[in-house]
Amino acid sequence: MSVSSFDLTGRVAIITGSSRGIGAATARKMAAQGAKVVISSRKQDACDAVAAEINAQHGAGTAIAVAASISRKDDLQNLVDQTRTQLGPIDILVCNAASNPYYGPMSGISDDQFRKILDNNILSNHWLIQMALPDMRAAGRGSVIIVSSIGGLQGTASIGVYNISKAADFQLARNLAVELGPDNIRVNCIAPGLIQTDMARALWENDQVMGHIRSVTPLRRIGQPDEIAGAAVFLASDAATYITGQSIVIDGGTTIAAAL
Ligand SMILES: NC(=O)c1ccc[n+]([C@@H]2O[C@H](COP(=O)([O-])OP(=O)(O)OC[C@H]3O[C@@H](n4cnc5c(N)ncnc54)[C@H](OP(=O)(O)O)[C@@H]3O)[C@@H](O)[C@H]2O)c1
Repeated sequence: MSVSSFDLTGRVAIITGSSRGIGAATARKMAAQGAKVVISSRKQDACDAVAAEINAQHGAGTAIAVAASISRKDDLQNLVDQTRTQLGPIDILVCNAASNPYYGPMSGISDDQFRKILDNNILSNHWLIQMALPDMRAAGRGSVIIVSSIGGLQGTASIGVYNISKAADFQLARNLAVELGPDNIRVNCIAPGLIQTDMARALWENDQVMGHIRSVTPLRRIGQPDEIAGAAVFLASDAATYITGQSIVIDGGTTIAAAL
């Protein structure tokens, strides 16, 4: 019987921000394809719950839970160390967790808020990727996936620094794709549109925003976390072995529709 090129059997995947939303959906889908997954967020109990659910469905030892704040380098090093000790070398890294502590014009953002967004959404990805790279180099292959946003492709009057950070993630992926390509390590981004998660709750619970999104989105709805997870499985798998430095936009067509 031939093995699907989407198969991830035996691969070890760290997914940050996987206690809920896009990260949890990604971990569930990767586990369903045979991967061993590391569930991580700031709250150990929330990670334990997702890992227990995955282990109940796919067998004990499929998932482990390691709490880590992406703001803390020591936490991320522990995340990598625990993964190696408990599951083995890292094959797949999904940099999914991100922060957006400010909503408003650029004139109102404090320096601390500005730095926090850049630190959590760019620098922490750099840290974690560098920590995971030795395993991928030794294996002669690896897949890094950064969850960016269509915000990184657009101007905005409300979440400007968040969008700057997401635009930088596209460039981080391109730079690393060039640097790591000779080691057969691929680095790509996923750029979701509006997805029904806690992070975007204020938007999808607002009727005015939802009306606008539906009117400008060809598929006439917002997305679900599961609809992002499939692309992460694809990019992690052997179905994507010639794709690197790219960004896959998953937004129901929001960014391609002309106003008229
Ligand atoms: N939802 C959207 O519309 C949308 C659109 C475009 C891009 N995105 C991107 O998609 C990614 C996932 O977002 P989501 O919508 O799935 O959000 P979500 O449902 O709110 O989940 C966020 C996850 O990240 C964890 N997290 C938050 N801050 C963290 C920190 N400082 N350190 C470690 N973990 C942290 C959360 O757990 P704890 O809070 O317990 O730590 C949770 O597991 C983000 O990069 C976001 O920018 C989302």
